[in-house]
Amino acid sequence: MAERLQKVMAEAGIASRRKSEVLITSGHVKVNGKTVTTLGVKVEPSDHVEVDGVPLNAEKLVYYLFYKPRGVVTTVHDEKGRKTVLDFFEDVPERIYPVGRLDYDTSGLLIMTNDGALANRLTHPKYEVKKTYLAKVEGVPTNADLKQLRLGVEIDGRKTAPAKSNLLDSDHKKNNALVQLTIHEGHNHQVKKMLAAVGHPVTKLKRERYGVLDLQSLQPGEYRKLKPIEISKLKGER
Ligand code: URA
Repeated sequence: MAERLQKVMAEAGIASRRKSEVLITSGHVKVNGKTVTTLGVKVEPSDHVEVDGVPLNAEKLVYYLFYKPRGVVTTVHDEKGRKTVLDFFEDVPERIYPVGRLDYDTSGLLIMTNDGALANRLTHPKYEVKKTYLAKVEGVPTNADLKQLRLGVEIDGRKTAPAKSNLLDSDHKKNNALVQLTIHEGHNHQVKKMLAAVGHPVTKLKRERYGVLDLQSLQPGEYRKLKPIEISKLKGER
């Protein structure tokens, strides 16, 4: 559907509609290679819009919180034909993708969006977004194990950053336990490797929290739109 250029710019996060109008009339905006300086031009999603030479994502920015079930790959396409996270978003027309990764056998909170700037921010180590995991592990970790997880353990020749760890439940008869671990790094299989490093391999893993977000009442396979306040918090605006 054709929409006014300034509206499309505002929705892409360029500037407010008013400021977008000023950008148009002062010659900063091109549509399909031609500078547009008059207001009232309408563009289709297929039109190519540039602001100061930078292409604009003409798609509306959308943000979803998804409860990824186990047995689903966190990619948009799987060569082995396994179920992907995108299979749950068939009704969403925007080209969304997952922010970061969860293993095939890990369930839990995953953000899906088409906002590349936010995806970069959230996955950049500098911003230290906290992620909380619930891990079922073999054996019952001792206080010393939990302390070691907090201080950092060596995985792949590198020491992990300080983390939070809590023993939520333990079953000495069945020889297993439930550990909550909060980290802000995102190395490959980090939680599984950290727990294996202290002698307690993970048998089940779920991500419960991501930054300010939690799964609330969602069930595996369900998703909801993020609220504007949640989006601005993730962007670091509040
Ligand atoms: N750490 C892991 O080991 N697996 C995940 O899926 C996420 C964090």
